[in-house]
Amino acid sequence: MRQLTLPGSDLRVSSLCLGTGQFGSGIGQETGWRLLDRFVEAGGTLIDTANIYGDWVPGAKSPSEKMIGAWLAARGLRDRVVLATKGGHPRLDRMDVPRLAPADLIHDVDESLAHLQTGCIDLYWLHRDDPARPVGEIMQTLAELAAAGKIRYAGCSNWRADRVRAAQAYAADNQLPGFVANQMMWSLAALNPSGLADPSLVPMTSDLYRYHLESGLAAVPYSSQANGLFQKLSHWWARRRISPGQAARYPLAENRARLARAQSLARDLGVSLAGIVLGYLQSQPFVTVPIIGCRTLDQLDDSLAADGVRLTPGQLTFLESGRE
Ligand SMILES: NC(=O)c1ccc[n+]([C@@H]2O[C@H](COP(=O)([O-])OP(=O)(O)OC[C@H]3O[C@@H](n4cnc5c(N)ncnc54)[C@H](OP(=O)(O)O)[C@@H]3O)[C@@H](O)[C@H]2O)c1
Repeated sequence: MRQLTLPGSDLRVSSLCLGTGQFGSGIGQETGWRLLDRFVEAGGTLIDTANIYGDWVPGAKSPSEKMIGAWLAARGLRDRVVLATKGGHPRLDRMDVPRLAPADLIHDVDESLAHLQTGCIDLYWLHRDDPARPVGEIMQTLAELAAAGKIRYAGCSNWRADRVRAAQAYAADNQLPGFVANQMMWSLAALNPSGLADPSLVPMTSDLYRYHLESGLAAVPYSSQANGLFQKLSHWWARRRISPGQAARYPLAENRARLARAQSLARDLGVSLAGIVLGYLQSQPFVTVPIIGCRTLDQLDDSLAADGVRLTPGQLTFLESGRE
């Protein structure tokens, strides 16, 4: 797999990132470890988890981080992996109460370090924003965590464009490290934001896109394959796997039209459908590293084989709108 440098850092990461949101909850240890092994064998280095992942299972605490920590220790691979985790997420039973106070972040980082069995997190994401909290305080806390050697770099996730802009400006004005990447919901699929079950998720918007273009900040999109929407739409037998939530997020009529265009481009270029879906993101004019959230080894293999398809600006416009 290709390795890229996140602009503004010396962080070298693989061109695809492995998402582990279901590890330790929907995905058990045997499959989880096989997916991790296969990803690393293929040259993958960037692994994405979060302190909150799996906490929706009654009695569970950070099973995704713990599975990755145990796997890293057993395989002795810590030095080969770029470990990314997230904190500052509201408690699941109090989603209306943000958790970005210094004490919240220090608490979450310390917990994640223990779960991951490591002394330092390579890329630490703020999982949500708290627009009422001044960006300066947040950036100062992250700088202190970096100075203490607990994190190497920080990124934001689910932050709106004005707040990313303000945080980066504060960091630059105060000689502090800024964010080296932004993690948002983004894929080839047309999205209906009002269909999102969790309104604190932030999709790519024209504002955010413009900011990435201007600043060169790297994007690390999640739900980068729209949860397999195009594959599910392309086989009659797989359509029943489109959940009501997925259909609410991704308007099906518009996405059937996008699928037809993706299939025609895939035929022309001799690549897979996954190649077009991931290539749409990997061909953007700023560094974009899609997170792939695979449930099976077949899905992982399909997504890994799709890595690196380069599309022209005209082909990106064609996929979005049917115009060249
Ligand atoms: N920052 C945040 O707030 C946030 C939010 C969500 C996710 N994330 C991160 O992003 C990761 C990925 O998110 P996601 O699971 O929503 O992304 P995704 O990759 O769009 O969706 C994963 C699902 O897509 C289907 N799929 C994947 N590869 C496929 C393939 N090659 N062919 C056919 N179907 C395929 C599977 O669906 P089926 O299981 O139905 O077969 C799989 O479970 C998470 O694990 C997590 O690390 C971050």
